[in-house]
Amino acid sequence: MTDSINQEIEGLVKDLNEHCYRYHVLDSPVISDKEYDRLYRRLKELEEKSGYVLPDSPTQRVGAPPLDKFKKVRHREPMLSLGNAFSYEEVKEFEQRLNRYLKSDEPIEYTVEPKYDGLAIELTYRKGMLEYASTRGDGYEGEDVTLNIKTIQAVPLKIEGSTMPEEIDIRGEIYMDINDFEALNREREKKGEQAFANPRNAAAGSIRQLDSSITAGRKLQLSCYGIGSRKGGTFSSQMDFIAWLKTSRFPVPSFIRSVTGGDEVIAVIKDIEERRKDLPFETDGAVIKVNKFDLQLQLGVKTREPRWAIAYKFPAHQGITRINGIRASVGRVGTITPVADLEPVKIGGVTVSRSTLHNWDEVGRKDVRVGDTVVVERAGDVIPRVIEVIKDRRTGKEQPVPTPENCPVCGSLVEKEEGGVAIRCIGLNCTAQVQERIRHYASRAAMDIEGLGEKSVELLSSQGLISHFVDIYRLKKEMIIELPRFAEKSAQNLIDAIDRSKETTLARFLYALGILHVGEYAAKLLARNFRDINELYHIEPEKVEEIKQMGGKTAGSVARFFRDRENLAALETLMDLGMRISNPEFEVESIEKGPFDGMSFVLTGTLPEARRAIEKQIESMGGRTAGSLSGNTDYLVLGESPGSKLKKARSLGTKIISYDDLVSMMKSGGRLF
Ligand code: IVH
Repeated sequence: MTDSINQEIEGLVKDLNEHCYRYHVLDSPVISDKEYDRLYRRLKELEEKSGYVLPDSPTQRVGAPPLDKFKKVRHREPMLSLGNAFSYEEVKEFEQRLNRYLKSDEPIEYTVEPKYDGLAIELTYRKGMLEYASTRGDGYEGEDVTLNIKTIQAVPLKIEGSTMPEEIDIRGEIYMDINDFEALNREREKKGEQAFANPRNAAAGSIRQLDSSITAGRKLQLSCYGIGSRKGGTFSSQMDFIAWLKTSRFPVPSFIRSVTGGDEVIAVIKDIEERRKDLPFETDGAVIKVNKFDLQLQLGVKTREPRWAIAYKFPAHQGITRINGIRASVGRVGTITPVADLEPVKIGGVTVSRSTLHNWDEVGRKDVRVGDTVVVERAGDVIPRVIEVIKDRRTGKEQPVPTPENCPVCGSLVEKEEGGVAIRCIGLNCTAQVQERIRHYASRAAMDIEGLGEKSVELLSSQGLISHFVDIYRLKKEMIIELPRFAEKSAQNLIDAIDRSKETTLARFLYALGILHVGEYAAKLLARNFRDINELYHIEPEKVEEIKQMGGKTAGSVARFFRDRENLAALETLMDLGMRISNPEFEVESIEKGPFDGMSFVLTGTLPEARRAIEKQIESMGGRTAGSLSGNTDYLVLGESPGSKLKKARSLGTKIISYDDLVSMMKSGGRLF
């Protein structure tokens, strides 16, 4: 009897651990949560009845009484920190240092992986069983957080497999996915508890709980990337070790590449940086390690950092500053947006003194006031935005700003967009709108007229020289040479730039016109589908809507634009003034319609080739590619360790194919199988 109970217990532990691994590490469960709970309850019942409890039983992950304090644990090998590189230049210097130290110019093999923004942990396994888990502490001595770590389902309680070292310290990072962090904060705010400032604090706060049942309720993740002390086990390199971790069922970095030489390292860093926004967790950089363990040993440690590794830190993109004022700014279609004037602050080497507040509803919702201290974020070339008001820093003198009822420039009444949040100035001759339209027309992605930026447009418009973008082509050198910002040379340069802009492409031109809802992408779509601009005159909205991916709102707006008499007259004048518009987008499509014509693809996960290279190939065969999934996506190409896109594709019913499928489609002229 006992034997059969013990056998059932052993079977249940094995099965439950397998399901746990599939769910928490592989993200591909094969049974329902309900079924899992049923098996778990059965195991619990049998354990209670028989008193036979295996150390790697899932029931051992929860239910320890709260501690008074954490015990201290000495690390058998110190847990080091990493030196930092803040530029590609410094990555190169790292490589040069290694070459000098090794007295060799032989190219070195490296691994590059994301730097997880969490807290470092050491897991000590003896004879395959998790014995204890400790925090980094001061690097030499940390805290025993074993009970808490056991509640993290992705942490193996037992190392499976035949290649198990007798003793091994596995190191990794405990972190929280951004989604789970946000959900946790929402819940805390609801309960009147203080929100965590970032996922790292949330992870650290959850691990350093004396009551492990609190930790159990937090969704924590683990990624393993290093070894401390060990007895047994033969690993020759970081890649080799990661492969072993993977087969031993440890979660490992979702992305890791081995490359040779500094230039390739930098290319991978760029790749990680590009993927960063799609990653479910926060990463503040990339960790570069010498791949071969014998070389690591040779290079050794300098004070508290290994010589063989370095952390490349992504440029900071957040800063804290004060709002000095909130202005209403009028855009080219009359949209009035709130803009914050900031106390200048350096973020990632760039001084930021202005930031968008998006719309007035948001100003109200976030309760942003003049005088507030705020967190500002700058991501790439995107306009900086106010993320958060730090309400603790309020003095009581902060001033709320009401939503404007009149246009701040022309005084016309404003109206709210139907069903939307935008408010718009309805004044037809509002100078702000006129100037914005001209500025947009001349901007880099549009007609690219160098020297015709915001200041020059304002000046030329206030002098009465331009009141429509058509007027740009009527400017003469003599008219501008006398103006305060101009001299002989700059006037000539501007005239030359204007002349050059007469030769353009249909996509640029359509974008430049500033048609409501027509951004760069929609302009390109139009150019691909219409040979020249004449085809758009008096077009019916239904004809525009036939274009796949063109929304009804945009189509309506395009049709309205090309029916308006004044607009058509302006276009006529532009042509008379010598505009020459070519349309390479249309020609490419019509001459060599590719096998992927009309198909759209989204790539996800780690693929055997650089993402951009694959996308280019798809595009060269007539397909479209996008960074995110929508109802219009035909195929999701699945690489290794995909992120949230896989779930989304499943929910949208998008066809999911492998890289190999894609290659065979390319070979077979667009057919799958
Ligand atoms: S390796 C001796 N790899 O960064 C090398 N560390 O600044 C030890 N970290 O304490 C670290 N992701 O908490 C390594 N992929 C990664 C990492 C990583 C995050 C953390 C770790 C370490 C800190 C050093």
